[in-house]
Amino acid sequence: MVIPKEIIQNWLMGFGWVARLARRYHSTGLNADQVQAYKVFEDYCRFSPIKGKDILEIGPGQTLEVLEYAMAEGARSCMAVDVAEYISEERARRSGITYRLCDGKALPFESEQFDLIWSHTAFEHLRFPETTVVECCRVLRKGGLLIAKIDLGDHSSYGSGDPSRLFECLKYPRWLWDLMKWNRSSYVNRLRKSEWLQLLQQKGFRIRSCQAWESQEIEALLPRLPYLHAYSRDDAVTSTIAVCAEKLP
Ligand SMILES: C[S@@+](CC[C@H](N)C(=O)[O-])C[C@H]1O[C@@H](n2cnc3c(N)ncnc32)[C@H](O)[C@@H]1O
Repeated sequence: MVIPKEIIQNWLMGFGWVARLARRYHSTGLNADQVQAYKVFEDYCRFSPIKGKDILEIGPGQTLEVLEYAMAEGARSCMAVDVAEYISEERARRSGITYRLCDGKALPFESEQFDLIWSHTAFEHLRFPETTVVECCRVLRKGGLLIAKIDLGDHSSYGSGDPSRLFECLKYPRWLWDLMKWNRSSYVNRLRKSEWLQLLQQKGFRIRSCQAWESQEIEALLPRLPYLHAYSRDDAVTSTIAVCAEKLP
């Protein structure tokens, strides 16, 4: 990464109109692809039946389809919340899903309003992960589930064709990383697997399951990547997790 260029791009994205313009060209992941969205929906259904449930999705990006499938399969209500407006009012109205924007801190919902919270590759982008986890606990009913797939890679490295860069974000001190990325969609909070699990447990959840995917390339390259030596092997090689956490009574 060319640090001065990253800092300037981040500074420019601090202007609302630049961010809005850039958003038109963003790929947010599923990008409203119905086939991929259905697979994600099926993955969520493995953890809990959805009939009669009140469901919140955090960070849907451009994709309301996952929640539309849930509505079609009998969910009682579906709501989505994002920090950036990727969905038009008209699109949200047509789907029957309540779509809200938030500031990345408080969730704009009543306490104990949901049975399920779903999130697909959004938690790694949370600017205030601790606050969001506390807020998830607040808006879930007791026994409710938070199901989140979290991509732990450095999103800026994707497409580079260089697997050794998968966790390059961990090279930089936090102040510099924030200066390069805070305003950008490629910002990742860099929490590792053990830190996510610890945070959830500290804030009122019990971990029901955590599926983890590891990078074989990073495992092989580990001796040559000194910035990863501060982490346990597990944290140094885990590239994605899918966590199912239950709100404690
Ligand atoms: C990589 S996109 C994933 C979008 C979608 N879930 C998918 O898989 O296609 C991450 C999304 O999380 C949203 N996001 C980031 N921080 C958030 C927060 N604190 N609360 C809600 N959404 C957030 C971003 O605006 C973006 O829409």
